[in-house]
Amino acid sequence: MKNNGWKKITALALMAVSLIAFTACGQKAAPAQTPAETAVETPAQTPAEAPTPLEALKAKGTLVLGTSADYPPYEFHAVINGQDEIVGFDIEIGKKIAEELGLELVIKDMKFDGLLAALDQGTIDIIIAGMSPTPERAENVDFSNIYYESTQTIVVKAADKDSYVDAASLAGKRLGVQKGAIQETIAAEQFPDAEAVALGKVTDLIIALTSGRIDAAIIELPVAKSAVKANPELFVSAIDVPEDSKGTAIALKKNSGDYLDAVNAILKKLGEEGLIEKFVAEATELADQQLEQ
Ligand code: ARG
Repeated sequence: MKNNGWKKITALALMAVSLIAFTACGQKAAPAQTPAETAVETPAQTPAEAPTPLEALKAKGTLVLGTSADYPPYEFHAVINGQDEIVGFDIEIGKKIAEELGLELVIKDMKFDGLLAALDQGTIDIIIAGMSPTPERAENVDFSNIYYESTQTIVVKAADKDSYVDAASLAGKRLGVQKGAIQETIAAEQFPDAEAVALGKVTDLIIALTSGRIDAAIIELPVAKSAVKANPELFVSAIDVPEDSKGTAIALKKNSGDYLDAVNAILKKLGEEGLIEKFVAEATELADQQLEQ
């Protein structure tokens, strides 16, 4: 009995204390929330202090480049002086952008189909990954001007080169594509009778092709050439792959404003100085040399 009484008193006391605390909080918070004050404070602060996308990036100090290093000569792993490095002409372009903007370059290698989400979440600041600026993607990201153009091809086994000569001959065959890449859409739209097999990495597509797990793969021409050099049992077929998105562009977060302008200005300069061509030639040579090791 006695115990219960004390418990009740303690409980009541606690309630009283929290009520006071609650009221006190309410009173403190109230003046700040009145519409009159909010209206005065907000416009005065926000526009003047919000940094532009480029200012925000410069304040951060790093340029986190998202790529999918399974794509020689665009981006690939190479052993340089015994060390594994990510190289390629996209990487050279990324280095120049970082240098021009005074930022430290950080490279994040991931699967191609994870790049757009990473950009959206802010874990990367820029995608340079042989990405085609499709209208669908452009709804969610800002694309730079096109810095490189290529076409699509169908890679097959050299032994099959006389069997696979057009879309009809691929009917019922396993046609490999990279997940999340435009090649997936191309397969569905232009080779609807083939059985599409989507894999995460282009390097896995090549292995699947050489080992016979797939019969053909849709691969961008420079990458296809590099694959055939590395694997003489493969062949770039003459099958026509009509495609609208021949260009390659850099993707930034939507509404990048002055940051996008800066990237375009750097690309323009690199183009004018003939550096993009030089980077492509050097990366192609490096990809071929790696194969000889
Ligand atoms: N150009 C194609 C696309 O944008 C494929 C790019 C794949 N890039 C890569 N690094 N694996 O969908």
